[in-house]
Amino acid sequence: MSINSTRSENFNRLKNILIIGNGGRENSLAWAIQKNELVEKVYLIPGNAGSERINKCERINIDTNNKNELIEKLDFLKIDLIVIGPEIPLANGLADFLREKEFKVFGPGKDGAKLEYSKSWAKEFMQEANIPTANFCKVNSLEEAKKIIHSSPIPLVVKADGLASGKGVFIPDSKEECLKAAESIFNGKFGNSGNVVVLEEKIQGPEVSVFALCDGKRYVLLPTAQDHKRLNEKDTGPNTGGMGAYSPAPLLTEDYLDRVIKEIIEPTIDALNRKNIDYKGVIYFGLMITNSGPKVIEYNCRFGDPECQTIMPLMDQNFVFLLEKCSMGNLTGEEKINNHDKVSGCVIATSKGYPHEYKTGFPIKIGEIDISDCQIFDSGTSLSKDGELLTNGGRVLSIVCQEKDFDMVFEKAYRNLKEINFEGIYFRNDIGHQVRKNFVKEI
Ligand code: AMP
Ligand code: GLY
Repeated sequence: MSINSTRSENFNRLKNILIIGNGGRENSLAWAIQKNELVEKVYLIPGNAGSERINKCERINIDTNNKNELIEKLDFLKIDLIVIGPEIPLANGLADFLREKEFKVFGPGKDGAKLEYSKSWAKEFMQEANIPTANFCKVNSLEEAKKIIHSSPIPLVVKADGLASGKGVFIPDSKEECLKAAESIFNGKFGNSGNVVVLEEKIQGPEVSVFALCDGKRYVLLPTAQDHKRLNEKDTGPNTGGMGAYSPAPLLTEDYLDRVIKEIIEPTIDALNRKNIDYKGVIYFGLMITNSGPKVIEYNCRFGDPECQTIMPLMDQNFVFLLEKCSMGNLTGEEKINNHDKVSGCVIATSKGYPHEYKTGFPIKIGEIDISDCQIFDSGTSLSKDGELLTNGGRVLSIVCQEKDFDMVFEKAYRNLKEINFEGIYFRNDIGHQVRKNFVKEI
């Protein structure tokens, strides 16, 4: 990656960085940020048991809702840049609050986070700006939903309007299932997040994730990625937060990406500007590549998980400069992220039962790992009193590898995964099947 900033310009900055969040995504951000020699310390609030295995990283255990304590701590630590990982603090206006206190923050304010925390708002935003997306209807009551579901010739996708930890989307095969989904949402399955429901035309095609780092006006694109949302092999089973990913996604050729930029990315940023939304953070475009072109399935106001873990190892030490420039409104728009000569892939290991009920607290044994161009980013882990690494979440950890091609990437990832064990460990064996030439031979 080469960007238009000189070292001397940046000297004596970016000494202390704070990342808010506790997932694999935040650990991978910390790992990429600490590569820069200006960075002396990366603090994570709260991080997880994997955070302190990362060079220069330290966890801080304070409640970000306790605003006075937070500011006192940030002043004490002399924090130069704050990166907010998850959507909930962004939707609650944490970035606005910290900016008011004159911190440099990477992460949109509450107004920009609405792209993610209100699906109906995002759909209307796209409609107004002529951004391609599935046709939709916003409904405020079960009666209204029933009328539309009954009159539709095809089953509709049913979505709770608000944040639902990735669980608020139903893709029914029949009208009965549609009705059931709408009923469960209006009956309070997701609390206030289900006061409004979006009914959507079902569209088809492969999905791809595109990330634009924005400074309010200008943007830089990260390498594209493809996630694997379904729990089981052959893309079957329930939706999850993501079971693995690879980057870049060859599906988006340079020409196709140009089309995505013209039809989706630039119109989104222009429309934010027209609404006076000063978006300083990442916009995650969840796209579907349909027969009639690219369409937005969803916007998120944060990095994808596990896409972030997959992309971060492709960044060089200048990555933190991009985040800082976004936070200051200083991108030139000319920054280039050069194609890395390697590609990257990530496999997530989960607890048995995820995304439904699962048990935690099992010891994690890690054997001999081939560590060259390979990272383990913990997602849900904790330490026992004796310092033993334990499972502490549905998605437990990710193994991420970089190599010259995807066959080599996944060969290494799965070889290393054999060295990792905990009771009930589960992972898909077919992550990257779309890009592994040897894949058929392996199964
Ligand atoms: P979302 O949380 O909005 O990303 O939705 C979760 C997943 O549901 C997406 O990744 C898609 O696989 C699927 N999905 C969402 N909306 C649609 C749609 N309109 N048509 C088909 N699949 C969809
Ligand atoms: N990987 C999907 C997400 O982060 O929403």
